[in-house]
Amino acid sequence: MGNPLFATKPIDALLKEAGETGEHSLKRALGPVNLVTLGIGAIIGAGIFVLTGSAAALYAGPAIMLSYILAGLGCVFAGLCYAEFASMIPIAGSAYTYGYATLGEIIAWIIGWDLILEYAFGAATVASGWSSTLVAFLQDYGISLPPQICDVPGAQWALFEGRWAPVATFNLPPEQLAALPHATAVFNLVAFLAILGVTTILIVGIKESANFNTGVVFVKLTAVLTFIAVALPYVLHHPDVVHANWKVFLPANTGAFGSYGWSGVLRGAAVVFFAYIGFDAVSTAAQEARNPQKDMPIGILGSLVVCTFLYIVVSGLLTATVHYSRLNIGAPVSLAIRETGVKWGSYVVNAGALAGLSTVMLVMLLGQSRVFYAMAHDGLLWKWAGDVHPRFRTPWKSTAITGLGAALFGSLVPIGSLGQMVSIGTLLAFVIVCAAVLILRARRPDLERPFKTPLVPVVPILGIIVALGLMASLNGITWVRLIVWLIIGMVIYFTYSVKHSKVRNSMK
Ligand code: ALA
Repeated sequence: MGNPLFATKPIDALLKEAGETGEHSLKRALGPVNLVTLGIGAIIGAGIFVLTGSAAALYAGPAIMLSYILAGLGCVFAGLCYAEFASMIPIAGSAYTYGYATLGEIIAWIIGWDLILEYAFGAATVASGWSSTLVAFLQDYGISLPPQICDVPGAQWALFEGRWAPVATFNLPPEQLAALPHATAVFNLVAFLAILGVTTILIVGIKESANFNTGVVFVKLTAVLTFIAVALPYVLHHPDVVHANWKVFLPANTGAFGSYGWSGVLRGAAVVFFAYIGFDAVSTAAQEARNPQKDMPIGILGSLVVCTFLYIVVSGLLTATVHYSRLNIGAPVSLAIRETGVKWGSYVVNAGALAGLSTVMLVMLLGQSRVFYAMAHDGLLWKWAGDVHPRFRTPWKSTAITGLGAALFGSLVPIGSLGQMVSIGTLLAFVIVCAAVLILRARRPDLERPFKTPLVPVVPILGIIVALGLMASLNGITWVRLIVWLIIGMVIYFTYSVKHSKVRNSMK
């Protein structure tokens, strides 16, 4: 009978669950357009609007475009593997479910627990970014929120030229900085309320959530396309500016790993990888897709391809318009559009960033609650987490708890620490999904695969190599946190899940 730790959930049982309908099951309401917009909703956010600037300024210079190509390529390898699974096992739970079907219960548990880092921490990270974007946006209109409610406890803010901003973002001599009025943040209420807002939409219904997402994705795509439409003619008409900014496309390495040069391109790729996170969240909604076999690959790969293309163009235009050394700021895209002289463009970009970040939170929390739902359904988490609301047909209890947890993390933990945890957690899930494709191809070649990852084993192996390479470039403390997180997960697994696991109980 084998070691129960590595018991797998039979694919046929999974397929049977996928076919269930009724008031205790999720509602199959999403078509291909919803799924692509769900992906774009999760992908375009703090990464492109915020991180690109500092990554270009500190690590890669204009070659940040190459970092985007590299990170995008790694995601396409993983995306192809996700697409194979999502079309083959179209039920909620994503990588957790694929792991249960192939690698065994304990590995599935590790993935499920790890996905909390991607989805719940991802929503918390973006909530933190959303609050700084809102503060900057409102100050453009002369409205200042009290800094005490806009950052994590203890964060220092100062007032300069009528605008409050975190002390860390000022580039002033220390004595001048010390003379400014200061305030200490107490609790990031703005981030907290942002998460509670999207959580409410998620509880009310999948269709409502998808409609909200589609509307807002339209706004954020408008912002990105406006930037391209303004910056492209500008660079075409100002070859002298482009020449000056791109004269050194790949700045020489300073001697330290990751500080410009090719190692800087690699470090830049690890940082901007965050911008791609989210395409896999589409697969968590497999149980709510009308025709998952056909539409899941369209949702995952379609959103990824659209965003990869946009990212490469935007990052190129950004460094062509503004010299990379000036980009280490909170709103680089907005600066670049102002640089072209089109002032209204920066309002569009800021509004798009604000709207855009809200859908990232929405889809991340959607993903998280569906993973909990799947785990509770299998008896690995408390049963209530799998309860579906009879009218809304959403897993409302797990959505509410996830929202509350993410809201607390987002309002209490600094954005930098959260962001790195999100990247390492996501990359670990990518490694496991790519490996799972290889394993299942060998063990169950007979299964019907509506979408097949091309060039197996090359694509999954490349996916694993790129993900491990990006993980290796993250710092030591992030690795320690990952290990501590997994140990906490193991404690819950051995104290609760082993006793309640449905698969184990069916083996007795
Ligand atoms: N990809 C998402 C973002 O950039 C997480 O905000």
